[in-house]
Amino acid sequence: MKLPHPIPYQGSKRNIAKFILPFFPRQMETLIEPFAGSAAISIAAACAGKASRFHLNDINKPLMTLWRSIINHPEEIADGYERLWVEQQGRERRYYDQIRDLFNKTQEPQYLFYLLARCVKASIRYNAKGEFNQSPDNRRLGRNPDQMKEDIFAVSNLFHGRAKITSVDYRDVIDSATKDDLVYMDPPYQGVCGTDDPRYYSNGVKFEEFILALESLVRRRISFVLSYDGRTGTKTYGKQLPRELGLGRIEINAGRSTQLTLLGKSENTFEAIYLSSDLMNRLEITEKELARQVGSKAIQLAFA
Ligand SMILES: C[S@@+](CC[C@H](N)C(=O)[O-])C[C@H]1O[C@@H](n2cnc3c(N)ncnc32)[C@H](O)[C@@H]1O
Repeated sequence: MKLPHPIPYQGSKRNIAKFILPFFPRQMETLIEPFAGSAAISIAAACAGKASRFHLNDINKPLMTLWRSIINHPEEIADGYERLWVEQQGRERRYYDQIRDLFNKTQEPQYLFYLLARCVKASIRYNAKGEFNQSPDNRRLGRNPDQMKEDIFAVSNLFHGRAKITSVDYRDVIDSATKDDLVYMDPPYQGVCGTDDPRYYSNGVKFEEFILALESLVRRRISFVLSYDGRTGTKTYGKQLPRELGLGRIEINAGRSTQLTLLGKSENTFEAIYLSSDLMNRLEITEKELARQVGSKAIQLAFA
């Protein structure tokens, strides 16, 4: 099934959502995404009827304002996107710069939406003053407004009346999780970009603080799934997580690395997810059972 995905976003998990979802409990009260971005996993979980409620959070305020608009005012945001998309025609480059200036002055979500649809690799970048400074991808006009409208309405239907949207630090969000919830975390890649990740809004997530947050989740027996490190061929990235956390590690084959393909090499990228031990108990899974349930060559089990 093709899942709706209105917000183009570098680092989105839309392509591997189907491999992550089998590790979610059949039912949960609230699915909490403290690093939501384009919320690919919450969208997939909502389509699969896995949770009754959703909490989407991201430190990027304009992004979460955009999420609020998409969920609560789909018509308005779809019309706004169409207007900008049509207006740009014949003067695309200049128009992009004008909208970027307007966004930096007003932080209006419709401008961010247009910028994400048009910018290089759908990748948010900010300068030292906190201004959006990514360039346009001059080969693309941005997604067609009719297709965009369909996806906007589809996710609005999925989340309307059952999603809480916030824009705070991830630690404030996981503090409120209960044992009936599931927390799915996809923090900015450390190891690749360190703490000064220009791709995102904040100064990254500090490793030591993140480990403390994981420890607190383990202590409170909250179920969680964490997308964390990975490897391309034999090159791994991401600092190792402490064994004491007792997490199960699963590798997902995310396909060919585009960067390496450009260099004439063809190595696959593997992304790792970690399951908390309480989640594994809740799923009542053993390594063997998991392999049977998932039944996919894309997944390699490597329990820690
Ligand atoms: C890898 S992206 C998540 C992508 C997401 N899984 C998706 O499918 O689109 C990481 C996100 O973490 C957010 N972020 C960075 N630091 C944060 C913090 N301290 N608290 C909450 N969110 C943060 C970034 O703005 C970014 O959107």
